[in-house]
Amino acid sequence: MSDQFIYFVCVKGNRDILKKEIEQRFKFLTPSFSKGDFLTYKNQKTPLTQKEIRQLKLAFALDWGESIGKLSNEAIEQKLKIKERDLEYPEESPSRAYLKILQTCNVFKIEANKDTNWIEFGSAPGGACYYLLNNFGNVCGVDPAVMDEICLKNERFIHMQEPVQNLSQEMLPDYDVHYITSDLNINPKQGIKEVIRLSKKYKSLKGIFYTVKLVKTDHLKVLEEFKEVFQNYGFKRVGFVQLSAHKRETLLYGLN
Ligand SMILES: C[S@@+](CC[C@H](N)C(=O)[O-])C[C@H]1O[C@@H](n2cnc3c(N)ncnc32)[C@H](O)[C@@H]1O
Repeated sequence: MSDQFIYFVCVKGNRDILKKEIEQRFKFLTPSFSKGDFLTYKNQKTPLTQKEIRQLKLAFALDWGESIGKLSNEAIEQKLKIKERDLEYPEESPSRAYLKILQTCNVFKIEANKDTNWIEFGSAPGGACYYLLNNFGNVCGVDPAVMDEICLKNERFIHMQEPVQNLSQEMLPDYDVHYITSDLNINPKQGIKEVIRLSKKYKSLKGIFYTVKLVKTDHLKVLEEFKEVFQNYGFKRVGFVQLSAHKRETLLYGLN
């Protein structure tokens, strides 16, 4: 039987993180040909089926699959195109974070609905909240920093201008909240603790999307702990997904 090769594509600037993730999680893969953000690995074990390859589920790969035969430069360019998908956002958006939430809603098929309410922790200046206000019902943004006027002037928007650790459940809105998203610039271990503590207010909750910013590749080790936090919370579907709008970060999701 011929050797099996698996390819991976990462977002710009995340090559070192992806390599480390593969090295830590899949010891049976050894580095082979790579070109920029396109990496291939040789499988040293029994060949994986297509299903097993899909189940590798990497936190820092945008795409992966079996690499069959010698790939032409055109074929590699084609695979790298995934990095450019869904990268346009409206000029008036207060920030590029608009893209992260748009892509999240696309990946998890969360359809626009004015009866669906959201909270975002780490919401300023407001790109994500702007997207949410355009597509959903009530939106609450938590951030000690200033929110853009485009969000503040919307009557369905509430700004809680406080650090997340200063909030109690009672201070958060009393309406049903269906999704929580977090994009905090704080230590992710502290952030996840605060987000879980506050989210327990809502029986209506369907999911949490938690952006994990990776300061050092050493922190990759804690990703499994984060997954456990969400599993222990009781979410049925828990995992990581890399979005093309991500920089040195990945999205932890927990869904009912
Ligand atoms: C990447 S930015 C968020 C971008 C935002 N999601 C958007 O759509 O424009 C990270 C934010 O986390 C906020 N932040 C940092 N520490 C925080 C804390 N303890 N509680 C709440 N927000 C915090 C920062 O003020 C900053 O605005």
